[in-house]
Amino acid sequence: MNKTLLVMIAGLMFTGSAVALEGNASAGKAKAASCAACHGADGNSATPMFPKMAGQGERYLIKQINDIKSGARPVAMMAGQVDNLSDQDIADIAAYYASKTSSTGQANPALVEKGAAIFRGGIADRSVPACAGCHSPTGQGMAAAGFPALAGQHAAYTVAQLTAFRAAADGREGRSNDGDTKIMRSVAFKMSDSEIEAVASFIQGLHN
Ligand code: HEC
Ligand code: HEC
Repeated sequence: MNKTLLVMIAGLMFTGSAVALEGNASAGKAKAASCAACHGADGNSATPMFPKMAGQGERYLIKQINDIKSGARPVAMMAGQVDNLSDQDIADIAAYYASKTSSTGQANPALVEKGAAIFRGGIADRSVPACAGCHSPTGQGMAAAGFPALAGQHAAYTVAQLTAFRAAADGREGRSNDGDTKIMRSVAFKMSDSEIEAVASFIQGLHN
């Protein structure tokens, strides 16, 4: 792991919300009923553009729901969905999805080698860090640090997110809620379309 990466990780671990509410997964199940249409009843969505949330870390989920609610991460399709959720509702929903098990998909065999190399080793000549360094070698993420799990996620969704981080890094409309350290914006900025496609396909096939 290089020095920049370690500094970025250390920076992230010690920032974030000071107060953490205890989430209740069974209360969250009822509160997530309206989310099921898109994200699946157990958080394993059937549609590639809707992210899977089963097994996702609570800290990451809480941050994203709050960012979607505040508009820091604009999700047009979720307009009105999370506006009325309290902090307790959000913690409960996050606990519910975190308690579920993510389903896995399949990687495109033609892209596996390239995708695996990027995931495990980054892209050395452009200083793109290994995804595994933060998202863990199995793609489980690091829940306590708020690094999201990626394993089994729909490739189309992952491509959309990396493309959106890259667009925001380029000053265009995209995803810019990765904090002041801009970790994901700077990672994605240096990736080509075919590299994004390959790593997303590899991630889709990662198992728990
Ligand atoms: C009409 C479809 C729809 C409904 C209903 C919906 N969502 Fe979403 N949600 C989306 C889409 C589409 C995205 C991905 C947006 C993007 O590409 O950035 C998303 C993204 C998310 C994310 C980000 C996940 C990640 O991995 O970063 C969270 C968290 C989330 N939704 C929570 C919820 C919750 C909680 C509810 C119910 C209260 C809900 N959603 C209802 C469509 C929906
Ligand atoms: C230094 C740590 C770090 C490295 C290295 C890193 N990530 Fe991330 N990644 C993060 C963090 C932190 C977030 C959450 C950003 C936020 O809070 O919005 C994230 C978010 C993501 C997301 C959005 C997940 C979702 O559910 O919407 C994807 C996709 C992603 N990373 C893919 C990658 C890939 C692919 C690589 C390697 C090319 C990589 N990351 C390298 C820390 C990292």
